[in-house]
Amino acid sequence: MRSRFFLTMIIISSVVSIAAQEKPAPRPWMSPQLSPDQRADLVVRQLTLSEKIQLVHGIGWGPLRPGDPVPPDNNGGAGEVQGIRRLGIPSLQQADSAVGVRMAAAQSRYATLLPSVLGAAASWDVKAAHLYGDVIGRELRAQGYNQSIGGGVNLARDPRNGRLFEYPGEDPLLAGVTVGHVIQGIQANKIMADIKHYAFNDQETGRTVVDVHISKQAAHESDLLAFELGIRIGQPSSVMCSYNKVEGDWSCENKWLLNDVLKGEWKFSGFVVSDWEATHSTTKAALAGLDMEMPGAQFFGTPLEDAVHRGKVPQARLDDMVHRLLRSMFAAGVIDHPSSPRQVVDPFRGRDDAQHIEEESIVLLKNDRGALPLLADSLHRIVVIGAHADVGVLSGGGSAQVDAPGGNAISPDKPTKWGEAVYFPSSPLRCIRQHAPNAQVSFDAGTDLAAAVQAARGADIVLVFADQYMSEGGDAPTLALPGNQNALIAAVAKANPHTFVVLETGNPVSMPWLDDVQGVLEAWYPGIGGGQAIANVLFGTVNPSGKLPITFPRSEKDLPHPRIFGMTYNTPANGGLPEHWVSEEKTASFPADYTEGVRFGYKWFQSEHKQPLFPFGFGLSYTHFTYDDLQIDSDKKQVHFRVRNDGQRSGTEVAQAYVQLPPSSGEKFMRLSGWGRVTLAPGASQQVTVQLEPLALASWDEPAERWNWIHGDYRVKVGRSSADIALSGHLMMQ
Ligand code: BGC
Repeated sequence: MRSRFFLTMIIISSVVSIAAQEKPAPRPWMSPQLSPDQRADLVVRQLTLSEKIQLVHGIGWGPLRPGDPVPPDNNGGAGEVQGIRRLGIPSLQQADSAVGVRMAAAQSRYATLLPSVLGAAASWDVKAAHLYGDVIGRELRAQGYNQSIGGGVNLARDPRNGRLFEYPGEDPLLAGVTVGHVIQGIQANKIMADIKHYAFNDQETGRTVVDVHISKQAAHESDLLAFELGIRIGQPSSVMCSYNKVEGDWSCENKWLLNDVLKGEWKFSGFVVSDWEATHSTTKAALAGLDMEMPGAQFFGTPLEDAVHRGKVPQARLDDMVHRLLRSMFAAGVIDHPSSPRQVVDPFRGRDDAQHIEEESIVLLKNDRGALPLLADSLHRIVVIGAHADVGVLSGGGSAQVDAPGGNAISPDKPTKWGEAVYFPSSPLRCIRQHAPNAQVSFDAGTDLAAAVQAARGADIVLVFADQYMSEGGDAPTLALPGNQNALIAAVAKANPHTFVVLETGNPVSMPWLDDVQGVLEAWYPGIGGGQAIANVLFGTVNPSGKLPITFPRSEKDLPHPRIFGMTYNTPANGGLPEHWVSEEKTASFPADYTEGVRFGYKWFQSEHKQPLFPFGFGLSYTHFTYDDLQIDSDKKQVHFRVRNDGQRSGTEVAQAYVQLPPSSGEKFMRLSGWGRVTLAPGASQQVTVQLEPLALASWDEPAERWNWIHGDYRVKVGRSSADIALSGHLMMQ
């Protein structure tokens, strides 16, 4: 009896202990009732030192460098941080996704190519910016990623910067608002977003060694303001610090940039991730505010663990790094809503969205005698020339390169390489033919000038496509279109007065032939719906509404710095021949003195009384808008006015509000302070209210380290562009 009792007890107790073993440990941090900070704190308490270290660096170059080790769970993106499985913390799977998800081809996946970010900024449409992010976010999710590492917002201080196509232009307000809404669109898909490259990574020439010098006031009122607004609006999970130095310190170990401004002044609660191999130290970087080294563990692996052991980096600082990552993961929803199961990306929806954004982004720069839109019925012979317009549209390179479906449209059988121009299969020629089915539409490659001239003679119209390939890692030495394209356009325009130019450029370009052509359209890098969008604008199915987010200068001579810092292209040693897209890796640091301060782009041209080729904010429409009835509410910082469509077609106007600070500011230029976007039927009018951005009216008080609003009379100017002001008034700041 007794032994049976013991046997029963043994059985019961072993069942209980098995049940106890099987019952998963409680994970209170999985409760969505708690705040992201509370959830992160609970996880941090569970982590061992080596687990904490694991969360603050990447796994190495992985899939980026063929031959490097790739962990089994790797998703094929540019970065991975291994999660903590025992606690339910997933790995961070990061993908470059500036203009669409990168590195899809290696996994046989598809990703939508969006128009360039500079193009999207030309829409001045926050809904289009949100949609831009939405495309990226949903395709990242479908492909199994949980973080985007796009979000470039470096201002266009130099119009020759090789990465301008990844950035939203030269004005801090337009750039910050655009990128903020892109981030919102990404994070609406419960995907973590990023903003980069923090800060002053404004040229590619010597990007890993250039040392930027700028006053704190100018910094706050220009490049930093774009980040501040982008972060305020978008609340991204991370900020990527850049390759360059600022005032002698690398950005990724720059206490002023990271601890003082980003985490101090702006109260940024996400994490700082280094650009790929932009970390230069352990203790200095950790104490300055860097939270994650990418892509590997050179400084934040064992050396950080040692530094914590030896008390050089306080344990609390390591906990803070980990907390920032975890709270961002909880806040974005990637732990509660993992990106699985995977799905097939919807290419049709992506293409339609890309086309829509491009249709809002194309800027009509010239339209002599209203020659555009083209009337298909009156055209018998159309000649299309150049830029591979028979097969596709150009895309930008580097880590923003999206893989083209079917391979590079101009050489589908060859694998694409870094630094090689990739064309996407959206053929403008085919779409032009669809719009003019009764016309004879022929194509000439434009490589042989005489043949192109011959083809152009006698045609009803000639459409010359011209392009400029740009990529991370190099800048354009000049503003000229590369190759023989200027000569081609000039020769064709001479042979046929009905010549129109369609530009697919990463950057502003000079146009020595401008007076000789009838029309010019800036299509940027047009994205996968580009062929359709361009044809729709040419034939008037879409009325163009894009406005320049960047000044088009006449010549390099008019720029604050006629030569890019550190660029040595035009020396006797290389024959003085400016090559296109000069890649310069330098080892010795050199200074970049931003003596212009905040005065670059339109602020430079205005204060120096220089005439640009096309001013900031400029763009034509097939209709015409008039403005009246300006009212200014100084208390609410609001501007009210009426816009009327005076033309024959319905159209969209981007009405811009600029403000000039009181004379005591010393500023001799206007600042973009807000805008309104209205779509109007012919003859219709609408009251527009623009809320001015307070920081666009503020000055940074350097000694007091805070924003300051000067008392007095602010001149408010409202118009079609920075150089076409329709209404003026006064705002009184008490
Ligand atoms: C670029 C970053 C990019 C990273 C990872 C770097 O070269 O500057 O923008 O996110 O590579 O591909």
